[in-house]
Amino acid sequence: MSEYHIQGKIRLAGEVSASGSKNAVLPIFAACILNGSKNVLHNCPQIQDTMISIQILEHLGCTVTTEGNTVIVDSSTANNWHVPDEFTRQMRSSVLFMGSLIGRFGKADVSFPGGCELGSRPIDMHIKALGAMGTDIQTGDMLQCSAEKLQGLRIHLSFPSVGATENIMLAAVLAEGETTILNAAREPEIVDLQGFLNSMGAKVIGAGSDTILIKGVKKLHEAEYTVMPDRIVAATYLLAAAITEGEINLKNVRPSDMIPVTAKLTEMGCQISEGANSIKLLAPPRLKSISKLETRPHPGFPTDLQAPFVATLALADGTSVVEENVFSSRCGHAPELTRMGADIMVTQDSRNFVIRGVESFKGATVEATDLRCGAALILAGLAAEGKTIVKEGYHVSRGYEHIEVDLRGLGADILHL
Ligand code: UD1
Repeated sequence: MSEYHIQGKIRLAGEVSASGSKNAVLPIFAACILNGSKNVLHNCPQIQDTMISIQILEHLGCTVTTEGNTVIVDSSTANNWHVPDEFTRQMRSSVLFMGSLIGRFGKADVSFPGGCELGSRPIDMHIKALGAMGTDIQTGDMLQCSAEKLQGLRIHLSFPSVGATENIMLAAVLAEGETTILNAAREPEIVDLQGFLNSMGAKVIGAGSDTILIKGVKKLHEAEYTVMPDRIVAATYLLAAAITEGEINLKNVRPSDMIPVTAKLTEMGCQISEGANSIKLLAPPRLKSISKLETRPHPGFPTDLQAPFVATLALADGTSVVEENVFSSRCGHAPELTRMGADIMVTQDSRNFVIRGVESFKGATVEATDLRCGAALILAGLAAEGKTIVKEGYHVSRGYEHIEVDLRGLGADILHL
Protein backbone atom coordinates (compact mmCIF):
# COMPACT_ATOMS: atom_id res chain seq x y z
CA MET A 1 0.00 0.00 0.00
CA SER A 2 1.17 3.51 -0.69
CA GLU A 3 -1.21 6.26 0.35
CA TYR A 4 -0.93 9.85 1.49
CA HIS A 5 -3.28 10.86 4.31
CA ILE A 6 -3.71 14.60 4.62
CA GLN A 7 -5.64 16.68 7.13
CA GLY A 8 -6.05 19.90 5.20
CA LYS A 9 -6.75 23.62 5.58
CA ILE A 10 -3.49 24.40 7.35
CA ARG A 11 -1.55 27.49 6.27
CA LEU A 12 1.97 26.34 5.31
CA ALA A 13 4.95 28.50 6.26
CA GLY A 14 8.69 28.06 6.62
CA GLU A 15 11.79 26.99 4.75
CA VAL A 16 12.31 23.97 2.50
CA SER A 17 14.88 22.81 -0.06
CA ALA A 18 14.27 21.30 -3.47
CA SER A 19 16.02 17.98 -4.15
CA GLY A 20 18.25 17.20 -7.10
CA SER A 21 16.44 16.94 -10.43
CA LYS A 22 14.82 13.68 -11.51
CA ASN A 23 14.75 14.62 -15.18
CA ALA A 24 18.41 15.67 -15.09
CA VAL A 25 19.77 12.69 -13.19
CA LEU A 26 18.11 10.03 -15.37
CA PRO A 27 19.99 10.87 -18.61
CA ILE A 28 23.11 11.47 -16.50
CA PHE A 29 22.86 7.91 -15.14
CA ALA A 30 22.57 6.66 -18.73
CA ALA A 31 25.63 8.77 -19.66
CA CYS A 32 27.71 7.01 -16.97
CA ILE A 33 27.98 4.02 -19.33
CA LEU A 34 29.96 6.06 -21.86
CA ASN A 35 33.29 6.63 -20.13
CA GLY A 36 33.95 3.09 -18.85
CA SER A 37 35.24 4.76 -15.74
CA LYS A 38 34.26 6.14 -12.33
CA ASN A 39 31.47 8.74 -12.04
CA VAL A 40 30.76 10.56 -8.78
CA LEU A 41 27.33 12.19 -8.85
CA HIS A 42 26.28 14.58 -6.08
CA ASN A 43 22.77 15.86 -5.27
CA CYS A 44 21.01 12.77 -6.68
CA PRO A 45 17.40 12.63 -5.51
CA GLN A 46 16.52 9.56 -3.41
CA ILE A 47 13.47 8.62 -5.46
CA GLN A 48 12.10 5.47 -7.04
CA ASP A 49 13.39 6.38 -10.54
CA THR A 50 16.92 6.70 -9.11
CA MET A 51 16.59 3.20 -7.61
CA ILE A 52 15.47 1.78 -10.96
CA SER A 53 18.33 3.51 -12.80
CA ILE A 54 20.80 2.03 -10.30
CA GLN A 55 19.28 -1.42 -10.84
CA ILE A 56 19.68 -1.00 -14.62
CA LEU A 57 23.31 0.11 -14.21
CA GLU A 58 24.01 -2.92 -12.00
CA HIS A 59 22.24 -5.20 -14.49
CA LEU A 60 24.57 -3.81 -17.18
CA GLY A 61 27.55 -4.81 -15.04
CA CYS A 62 28.39 -1.45 -13.42
CA THR A 63 29.42 -1.21 -9.76
CA VAL A 64 27.23 1.30 -7.96
CA THR A 65 27.63 2.64 -4.43
CA THR A 66 25.37 5.14 -2.71
CA GLU A 67 26.29 7.48 0.13
CA GLY A 68 23.23 9.63 0.92
CA ASN A 69 22.63 11.82 -2.10
CA THR A 70 25.94 10.87 -3.73
CA VAL A 71 25.92 7.96 -6.16
CA ILE A 72 29.18 6.53 -7.48
CA VAL A 73 28.89 4.59 -10.73
CA ASP A 74 31.91 2.65 -11.95
CA SER A 75 31.15 1.60 -15.53
CA SER A 76 34.57 0.02 -16.20
CA THR A 77 33.00 -3.37 -15.39
CA ALA A 78 29.94 -2.90 -17.68
CA ASN A 79 29.65 -5.90 -20.01
CA ASN A 80 25.98 -6.17 -20.98
CA TRP A 81 23.77 -4.07 -23.32
CA HIS A 82 20.39 -5.61 -22.54
CA VAL A 83 17.71 -3.48 -20.81
CA PRO A 84 14.79 -5.85 -20.26
CA ASP A 85 11.09 -5.20 -20.00
CA GLU A 86 11.01 -5.23 -16.19
CA PHE A 87 12.88 -1.88 -16.26
CA THR A 88 11.26 -0.08 -19.22
CA ARG A 89 7.83 -0.98 -17.86
CA GLN A 90 8.65 0.75 -14.58
CA MET A 91 10.45 3.71 -16.10
CA ARG A 92 10.04 4.93 -19.68
CA SER A 93 13.25 6.92 -19.63
CA SER A 94 15.14 3.57 -19.60
CA VAL A 95 15.16 4.14 -23.39
CA LEU A 96 17.90 6.72 -22.80
CA PHE A 97 20.29 3.83 -22.25
CA MET A 98 19.92 3.16 -26.00
CA GLY A 99 22.12 6.10 -26.99
CA SER A 100 24.86 5.46 -24.44
CA LEU A 101 24.97 1.66 -24.95
CA ILE A 102 25.27 2.05 -28.73
CA GLY A 103 27.93 4.73 -28.13
CA ARG A 104 29.97 2.47 -25.82
CA PHE A 105 29.38 -1.06 -27.22
CA GLY A 106 27.91 -0.51 -30.70
CA LYS A 107 24.97 -2.57 -29.40
CA ALA A 108 21.82 -2.09 -27.34
CA ASP A 109 18.84 -4.37 -26.75
CA VAL A 110 16.20 -2.28 -25.07
CA SER A 111 12.63 -3.36 -24.42
CA PHE A 112 10.14 -1.17 -26.28
CA PRO A 113 8.35 1.20 -23.87
CA GLY A 114 4.58 1.11 -24.37
CA GLY A 115 2.09 3.95 -24.06
CA CYS A 116 1.44 5.48 -20.68
CA GLU A 117 -1.11 7.48 -18.70
CA LEU A 118 -0.18 10.61 -20.62
CA GLY A 119 -0.90 9.24 -24.10
CA SER A 120 0.74 7.06 -26.73
CA ARG A 121 4.29 8.49 -26.32
CA PRO A 122 6.08 7.17 -29.42
CA ILE A 123 9.89 7.17 -29.70
CA ASP A 124 9.99 7.47 -33.49
CA MET A 125 12.32 10.48 -33.38
CA HIS A 126 14.86 8.58 -31.24
CA ILE A 127 14.80 5.61 -33.64
CA LYS A 128 15.01 7.75 -36.77
CA ALA A 129 17.97 9.79 -35.50
CA LEU A 130 19.97 6.81 -34.18
CA GLY A 131 19.25 5.01 -37.46
CA ALA A 132 20.52 7.98 -39.48
CA MET A 133 23.74 7.88 -37.44
CA GLY A 134 24.37 4.33 -38.66
CA THR A 135 22.48 2.10 -36.22
CA ASP A 136 20.60 -0.89 -37.54
CA ILE A 137 17.44 -1.07 -35.43
CA GLN A 138 15.13 -4.08 -35.47
CA THR A 139 11.85 -3.12 -33.84
CA GLY A 140 9.41 -5.46 -32.08
CA ASP A 141 8.99 -6.09 -28.36
CA MET A 142 12.71 -5.38 -28.16
CA LEU A 143 14.60 -2.64 -29.96
CA GLN A 144 17.66 -4.53 -31.13
CA CYS A 145 20.29 -2.00 -32.11
CA SER A 146 23.72 -2.55 -33.61
CA ALA A 147 26.20 -0.19 -35.23
CA GLU A 148 29.64 -0.75 -36.72
CA LYS A 149 30.60 2.86 -36.10
CA LEU A 150 28.27 5.75 -35.34
CA GLN A 151 28.63 8.66 -37.74
CA GLY A 152 27.93 12.27 -36.74
CA LEU A 153 25.57 14.21 -39.00
CA ARG A 154 22.99 17.02 -39.02
CA ILE A 155 19.68 16.01 -37.45
CA HIS A 156 16.56 18.17 -37.56
CA LEU A 157 13.95 17.19 -34.99
CA SER A 158 10.35 17.69 -36.10
CA PHE A 159 9.51 18.55 -32.44
CA PRO A 160 11.97 19.55 -29.69
CA SER A 161 11.65 16.23 -27.84
CA VAL A 162 13.60 16.15 -24.58
CA GLY A 163 14.29 12.40 -24.72
CA ALA A 164 15.24 12.35 -28.41
CA THR A 165 17.64 15.28 -27.91
CA GLU A 166 19.26 13.46 -24.96
CA ASN A 167 19.51 10.11 -26.76
CA ILE A 168 21.21 11.76 -29.75
CA MET A 169 23.64 13.64 -27.48
CA LEU A 170 24.51 10.37 -25.70
CA ALA A 171 25.09 8.51 -28.97
CA ALA A 172 27.06 11.36 -30.58
CA VAL A 173 29.70 11.84 -27.88
CA LEU A 174 31.86 8.91 -29.07
CA ALA A 175 30.70 8.99 -32.73
CA GLU A 176 32.92 9.73 -35.72
CA GLY A 177 32.80 13.45 -36.67
CA GLU A 178 30.33 16.16 -35.72
CA THR A 179 26.65 15.88 -34.89
CA THR A 180 24.39 18.93 -35.04
CA ILE A 181 20.91 18.76 -33.52
CA LEU A 182 18.57 21.39 -34.94
CA ASN A 183 15.26 22.23 -33.21
CA ALA A 184 16.77 20.62 -30.11
CA ALA A 185 14.92 20.69 -26.80
CA ARG A 186 16.10 23.65 -24.70
CA GLU A 187 15.20 22.41 -21.21
CA PRO A 188 17.64 23.20 -18.36
CA GLU A 189 18.07 19.42 -17.88
CA ILE A 190 19.63 19.26 -21.38
CA VAL A 191 22.15 21.90 -20.25
CA ASP A 192 22.89 19.74 -17.21
CA LEU A 193 23.50 16.69 -19.42
CA GLN A 194 25.89 18.78 -21.54
CA GLY A 195 27.69 19.83 -18.33
CA PHE A 196 28.10 16.23 -17.19
CA LEU A 197 29.21 14.96 -20.62
CA ASN A 198 31.81 17.74 -20.86
CA SER A 199 33.02 16.92 -17.34
CA MET A 200 34.01 13.46 -18.70
CA GLY A 201 35.83 14.97 -21.67
CA ALA A 202 33.07 15.22 -24.29
CA LYS A 203 32.86 18.22 -26.62
CA VAL A 204 29.29 19.50 -26.53
CA ILE A 205 28.18 23.11 -27.00
CA GLY A 206 24.89 24.90 -27.54
CA ALA A 207 22.61 23.15 -25.01
CA GLY A 208 19.94 25.58 -23.86
CA SER A 209 19.61 26.88 -27.43
CA ASP A 210 17.83 25.14 -30.30
CA THR A 211 21.14 24.05 -31.90
CA ILE A 212 23.49 21.63 -30.16
CA LEU A 213 26.87 20.67 -31.62
CA ILE A 214 28.65 17.52 -30.49
CA LYS A 215 32.19 16.82 -31.71
CA GLY A 216 32.91 13.11 -31.37
CA VAL A 217 35.92 12.21 -29.20
CA LYS A 218 37.88 8.94 -29.04
CA LYS A 219 38.08 8.58 -25.26
CA LEU A 220 36.44 9.90 -22.11
CA HIS A 221 37.70 10.01 -18.54
CA GLU A 222 36.28 9.78 -15.03
CA ALA A 223 33.88 12.48 -13.89
CA GLU A 224 32.48 14.21 -10.82
CA TYR A 225 29.33 16.30 -11.11
CA THR A 226 26.59 17.94 -9.04
CA VAL A 227 23.08 17.45 -10.43
CA MET A 228 20.94 20.59 -10.82
CA PRO A 229 17.99 21.28 -8.49
CA ASP A 230 14.59 19.90 -9.48
CA ARG A 231 12.52 22.76 -10.88
CA ILE A 232 9.28 20.73 -10.82
CA VAL A 233 9.69 19.80 -7.15
CA ALA A 234 10.58 23.46 -6.45
CA ALA A 235 7.42 24.66 -8.17
CA THR A 236 5.31 22.07 -6.31
CA TYR A 237 6.50 23.53 -2.99
CA LEU A 238 5.81 27.09 -4.16
CA LEU A 239 2.29 25.94 -5.04
CA ALA A 240 1.89 24.25 -1.64
CA ALA A 241 2.38 27.67 -0.06
CA ALA A 242 0.22 29.41 -2.69
CA ILE A 243 -2.75 27.06 -2.33
CA THR A 244 -2.74 27.29 1.51
CA GLU A 245 -2.43 31.12 1.56
CA GLY A 246 1.01 30.52 3.02
CA GLU A 247 4.56 31.78 2.91
CA ILE A 248 7.69 29.89 1.93
CA ASN A 249 11.43 30.36 1.64
CA LEU A 250 12.54 27.84 -0.96
CA LYS A 251 16.23 26.89 -1.08
CA ASN A 252 18.37 24.93 -3.58
CA VAL A 253 16.54 26.39 -6.55
CA ARG A 254 17.75 28.27 -9.62
CA PRO A 255 15.35 31.21 -10.12
CA SER A 256 16.33 31.54 -13.80
CA ASP A 257 14.95 28.03 -14.48
CA MET A 258 11.69 28.99 -12.79
CA ILE A 259 10.72 32.09 -14.81
CA PRO A 260 7.74 30.50 -16.65
CA VAL A 261 6.41 29.42 -13.23
CA THR A 262 7.10 32.51 -11.15
CA ALA A 263 5.57 34.67 -13.92
CA LYS A 264 2.29 32.74 -13.55
CA LEU A 265 2.40 32.78 -9.74
CA THR A 266 2.85 36.56 -9.86
CA GLU A 267 -0.15 36.80 -12.19
CA MET A 268 -2.10 34.80 -9.60
CA GLY A 269 -1.33 37.45 -6.98
CA CYS A 270 1.67 35.90 -5.18
CA GLN A 271 4.56 38.10 -4.11
CA ILE A 272 7.83 36.59 -5.28
CA SER A 273 11.36 37.63 -4.36
CA GLU A 274 14.41 35.88 -5.74
CA GLY A 275 17.83 35.32 -4.18
CA ALA A 276 20.86 33.72 -5.84
CA ASN A 277 19.66 30.18 -5.05
CA SER A 278 16.35 30.81 -3.34
CA ILE A 279 12.82 32.05 -3.94
CA LYS A 280 10.46 33.52 -1.34
CA LEU A 281 6.73 33.39 -1.98
CA LEU A 282 3.97 35.14 -0.05
CA ALA A 283 0.47 34.10 -1.13
CA PRO A 284 -2.52 36.45 -1.17
CA PRO A 285 -5.68 35.64 0.86
CA ARG A 286 -7.30 34.43 -2.39
CA LEU A 287 -5.45 33.56 -5.59
CA LYS A 288 -6.48 35.17 -8.89
CA SER A 289 -7.42 33.17 -11.96
CA ILE A 290 -5.30 33.20 -15.15
CA SER A 291 -6.97 33.94 -18.49
CA LYS A 292 -4.78 31.41 -20.35
CA LEU A 293 -1.97 29.04 -19.40
CA GLU A 294 -0.49 27.00 -22.28
CA THR A 295 2.05 24.22 -21.82
CA ARG A 296 4.93 24.35 -24.33
CA PRO A 297 8.50 23.06 -24.61
CA HIS A 298 10.97 25.15 -22.58
CA PRO A 299 11.10 28.14 -22.21
CA GLY A 300 7.33 27.72 -22.38
CA PHE A 301 5.30 26.61 -19.39
CA PRO A 302 6.27 23.02 -18.36
CA THR A 303 3.70 20.29 -18.96
CA ASP A 304 4.84 18.58 -15.75
CA LEU A 305 3.26 21.46 -13.81
CA GLN A 306 -0.02 21.49 -15.67
CA ALA A 307 -1.81 19.25 -13.16
CA PRO A 308 -0.45 21.02 -10.04
CA PHE A 309 -1.50 24.40 -11.51
CA VAL A 310 -4.95 23.09 -12.49
CA ALA A 311 -5.44 22.02 -8.84
CA THR A 312 -4.34 25.43 -7.57
CA LEU A 313 -6.34 27.44 -10.11
CA ALA A 314 -9.44 25.44 -9.15
CA LEU A 315 -9.45 27.47 -5.89
CA ALA A 316 -8.65 30.82 -7.52
CA ASP A 317 -11.10 33.68 -7.89
CA GLY A 318 -12.52 33.53 -11.42
CA THR A 319 -12.27 31.30 -14.47
CA SER A 320 -8.97 30.02 -15.87
CA VAL A 321 -8.26 28.21 -19.13
CA VAL A 322 -5.36 25.77 -19.28
CA GLU A 323 -4.22 24.28 -22.60
CA GLU A 324 -2.07 21.10 -22.74
CA ASN A 325 0.05 21.11 -25.88
CA VAL A 326 2.79 18.56 -25.13
CA PHE A 327 0.98 15.32 -24.22
CA SER A 328 -2.18 13.95 -25.83
CA SER A 329 -3.89 12.70 -22.70
CA ARG A 330 -2.66 14.43 -19.56
CA CYS A 331 -5.98 14.87 -17.78
CA GLY A 332 -6.33 12.08 -15.15
CA HIS A 333 -6.33 14.65 -12.34
CA ALA A 334 -9.49 16.46 -13.50
CA PRO A 335 -12.08 13.86 -12.41
CA GLU A 336 -10.24 13.29 -9.11
CA LEU A 337 -10.16 17.01 -8.32
CA THR A 338 -13.86 17.17 -9.21
CA ARG A 339 -14.52 14.61 -6.45
CA MET A 340 -13.04 17.16 -4.05
CA GLY A 341 -15.39 19.88 -5.26
CA ALA A 342 -13.43 21.43 -8.14
CA ASP A 343 -15.36 22.72 -11.16
CA ILE A 344 -13.25 21.63 -14.16
CA MET A 345 -14.52 21.01 -17.68
CA VAL A 346 -12.16 19.10 -19.97
CA THR A 347 -12.76 19.36 -23.72
CA GLN A 348 -13.23 16.14 -25.68
CA ASP A 349 -9.74 16.20 -27.15
CA SER A 350 -8.32 16.26 -23.55
CA ARG A 351 -6.46 19.44 -24.47
CA ASN A 352 -8.32 22.27 -22.74
CA PHE A 353 -9.35 22.66 -19.12
CA VAL A 354 -11.92 25.31 -18.25
CA ILE A 355 -11.60 25.85 -14.52
CA ARG A 356 -14.18 27.83 -12.59
CA GLY A 357 -12.59 28.66 -9.25
CA VAL A 358 -14.52 27.44 -6.18
CA GLU A 359 -14.26 28.77 -2.60
CA SER A 360 -13.06 25.50 -1.05
CA PHE A 361 -12.35 21.78 -1.56
CA LYS A 362 -13.74 18.98 0.58
CA GLY A 363 -11.43 16.12 1.59
CA ALA A 364 -12.09 12.87 -0.31
CA THR A 365 -10.48 9.57 -1.24
CA VAL A 366 -8.84 10.08 -4.63
CA GLU A 367 -6.44 8.18 -6.83
CA ALA A 368 -3.17 9.31 -8.40
CA THR A 369 -3.13 8.21 -12.04
CA ASP A 370 0.44 9.40 -12.63
CA LEU A 371 3.27 11.23 -10.86
CA ARG A 372 2.17 14.83 -11.40
CA CYS A 373 -1.49 13.94 -10.90
CA GLY A 374 -0.42 12.64 -7.48
CA ALA A 375 1.34 15.93 -6.71
CA ALA A 376 -1.78 17.86 -7.77
CA LEU A 377 -3.98 15.78 -5.47
CA ILE A 378 -1.62 16.28 -2.52
CA LEU A 379 -1.78 20.04 -3.12
CA ALA A 380 -5.56 19.88 -3.23
CA GLY A 381 -5.57 17.83 -0.01
CA LEU A 382 -3.42 20.44 1.75
CA ALA A 383 -6.05 23.08 1.01
CA ALA A 384 -9.17 20.94 1.51
CA GLU A 385 -11.45 20.91 4.53
CA GLY A 386 -11.17 17.58 6.35
CA LYS A 387 -9.26 14.47 5.38
CA THR A 388 -7.98 13.52 1.94
CA ILE A 389 -6.54 10.13 1.08
CA VAL A 390 -4.43 9.95 -2.09
CA LYS A 391 -4.28 6.33 -3.23
CA GLU A 392 -1.69 4.84 -5.60
CA GLY A 393 0.84 7.10 -3.90
CA TYR A 394 3.75 5.10 -5.36
CA HIS A 395 3.50 7.32 -8.44
CA VAL A 396 4.53 10.26 -6.25
CA SER A 397 7.58 8.46 -4.82
CA ARG A 398 8.87 8.12 -8.41
CA GLY A 399 9.67 11.83 -8.49
CA TYR A 400 9.50 13.37 -5.00
CA GLU A 401 12.04 12.63 -2.27
CA HIS A 402 10.04 12.33 0.99
CA ILE A 403 7.46 14.96 0.01
CA GLU A 404 5.57 14.26 3.26
CA VAL A 405 8.63 15.09 5.38
CA ASP A 406 9.22 18.36 3.52
CA LEU A 407 5.56 19.37 3.79
CA ARG A 408 5.44 18.48 7.49
CA GLY A 409 8.42 20.81 7.94
CA LEU A 410 6.16 23.57 6.62
CA GLY A 411 3.42 22.65 9.11
CA ALA A 412 1.31 20.25 7.04
CA ASP A 413 -0.49 17.29 8.59
CA ILE A 414 0.44 14.57 6.08
CA LEU A 415 1.42 10.94 6.44
CA HIS A 416 2.73 8.47 3.85
CA LEU A 417 1.42 5.01 4.66
C1 UD1 B 1 10.56 14.46 -20.72
C2 UD1 B 1 10.39 14.43 -19.22
C3 UD1 B 1 8.94 14.58 -18.83
C4 UD1 B 1 8.37 15.83 -19.46
C5 UD1 B 1 8.63 15.83 -20.97
C6 UD1 B 1 8.21 17.13 -21.64
C7 UD1 B 1 12.23 13.06 -18.48
C8 UD1 B 1 12.66 11.78 -17.86
N1 UD1 B 1 10.92 13.19 -18.71
O1 UD1 B 1 9.83 13.32 -21.22
O2 UD1 B 1 8.87 14.70 -17.40
O3 UD1 B 1 6.97 15.86 -19.23
O4 UD1 B 1 10.03 15.66 -21.22
O5 UD1 B 1 8.82 18.22 -21.07
O6 UD1 B 1 13.02 13.95 -18.72
N2 UD1 B 1 7.29 12.47 -29.04
C9 UD1 B 1 7.07 11.83 -30.26
N3 UD1 B 1 8.08 11.06 -30.79
C10 UD1 B 1 9.29 10.91 -30.15
C11 UD1 B 1 9.50 11.55 -28.92
C12 UD1 B 1 8.49 12.34 -28.39
O7 UD1 B 1 6.00 11.96 -30.85
O8 UD1 B 1 10.15 10.21 -30.68
C13 UD1 B 1 6.22 13.29 -28.45
C14 UD1 B 1 5.70 12.70 -27.12
O9 UD1 B 1 4.73 11.70 -27.33
C15 UD1 B 1 5.14 13.92 -26.45
C16 UD1 B 1 6.09 15.04 -26.91
O10 UD1 B 1 6.74 14.55 -28.09
O11 UD1 B 1 3.84 14.18 -26.90
C17 UD1 B 1 7.14 15.44 -25.88
O12 UD1 B 1 7.90 14.32 -25.52
P1 UD1 B 1 9.40 14.43 -25.02
O13 UD1 B 1 9.84 15.86 -25.01
O14 UD1 B 1 10.21 13.46 -25.77
O15 UD1 B 1 9.24 13.95 -23.51
P2 UD1 B 1 10.07 12.87 -22.74
O16 UD1 B 1 11.51 12.97 -23.06
O17 UD1 B 1 9.42 11.54 -22.89
